[in-house]
Amino acid sequence: MRYFIKTFGCQMNFNDSERLRGILKTMGYEPAQSWEEADLILINTCTIREKPDQKVYSHLGEFKKIKERNPKALIGVCGCLAQRMGEELVQKAPVIDLLFSSFNMHQLPELIQQAQAGYKAIAILDNPPSDEDKLWEFPTVRDNKYCAYVTVMKGCDKNCTYCVVPKTRGRQRSRSLESILKEVKSLVEDGVREIHLLGQNVTAWGQDIGTPFEELLYRVAEVPGVERIRFTTGHPKDLTESIAKAMGEIPQVCEHLHLPVQAGSNRILKLMDRGYTKEEYLEKVHMLKEYVKGITFSTDIIVGFPTETEEDFEETLDVLRKVRFEQVFSFKYSPRPDTPAYSMEGQVPDHIKTERMSRLLELQKRILSEIAREYEGTIQEVLIEGCEGSKLTGRTRTNRWASLSGDESLLGSLVKVKVVSSKPFNMECELVEG
Ligand code: SAH
Ligand code: SF4
Ligand code: F3S
Repeated sequence: MRYFIKTFGCQMNFNDSERLRGILKTMGYEPAQSWEEADLILINTCTIREKPDQKVYSHLGEFKKIKERNPKALIGVCGCLAQRMGEELVQKAPVIDLLFSSFNMHQLPELIQQAQAGYKAIAILDNPPSDEDKLWEFPTVRDNKYCAYVTVMKGCDKNCTYCVVPKTRGRQRSRSLESILKEVKSLVEDGVREIHLLGQNVTAWGQDIGTPFEELLYRVAEVPGVERIRFTTGHPKDLTESIAKAMGEIPQVCEHLHLPVQAGSNRILKLMDRGYTKEEYLEKVHMLKEYVKGITFSTDIIVGFPTETEEDFEETLDVLRKVRFEQVFSFKYSPRPDTPAYSMEGQVPDHIKTERMSRLLELQKRILSEIAREYEGTIQEVLIEGCEGSKLTGRTRTNRWASLSGDESLLGSLVKVKVVSSKPFNMECELVEG
């Protein structure tokens, strides 16, 4: 039996798919090269903005054709769109045989059995079930041998007014320290060097089990063989001084942080219910720079939130100029059903969002090319993750892609390189001896 999984959305969804692959592996399934050859097709969906929704619908159209040619193929939809739409999705697309969400991925074996017996296996729950921790008993199947994601918490306890995540993923549930460390140990035994801790709001990990997030960082760093640690996504509000201190103290924690600001105007930040002001955000960045020498940042920006004026938008551009992010992920505000911002007055017309977005991208392009140049001539540490012919690729501690000539035997090692030339998204480097 062969499976094919198509994944949309964030890193957490990708890690969920790695877990689904692990579940399928324990059931004896093998991966298929394409969906045409698969006996089971899973679409792990995202619904954060309207675009991902549409992509899923267009895929379902294709799968209908598959079903006509190969009636035995089972088609499953999981993830956040499945949780949000529930049975309505199956009514829209009767081709779906299985429907579940991130709440109950561990039930996949039973759901497959039901579907094989000819029933529609629809299991969309209002709340996560009490046995959802069973999920951690399954392995993951990963493509990257040396860098691994580890989901440390599920859900989100914030209420950003534009966001569907608290609805699609539920309230915050921290995974136990014991369970996380067990997975980290087994990943390291499997050759992994870099551990990337994941949560929608990862710096809030532990709040519901009485352990601070920095404790998790110290404990993961104690696992022999862990050479690098990253974590995503840190919410500015939960990024405490103790976390910054731990980041500076722990040698394996990389000098890079994704810290979404969303907007620069205090009025808009308040309407978004982000829980910080522009000044507080900039203070956090300053504090992190004090504790973590050489730290770089990336961020998420929403352009055209309801009532955003030209002056508000200028405040966002001001944050970009002040922080000088290495990467900016910017999104046009997309109204999501059942979120407070959906029905706010003052929705911004699309052409204004587009115009502001292009100005933002233009500014960021300029900043990034300046940053890129500053890397030239510097010495960086790179973890070699990929090899094509004699070309090696990997990332610096500050999360920039580097490529260099070298031998395949360096795969999985940390090497010192000198940056020869640096473009916005890649740096040509050479090995430094010794
Ligand atoms: N938990 C993370 C964000 C997860 S969603 C955090 O709080 O930072 C990833 C990004 O999608 C968000 O940071 C935001 O920039 C964007 N996003 C979320 N909802 C959106 C919406 N309705 N319209 C446009 N962008 C949105
Ligand atoms: Fe969404 Fe806000 Fe939670 Fe991030 S912190 S997942 S943006 S509600
Ligand atoms: Fe999308 Fe769900 Fe992630 S909505 S961004 S897949 S948490």
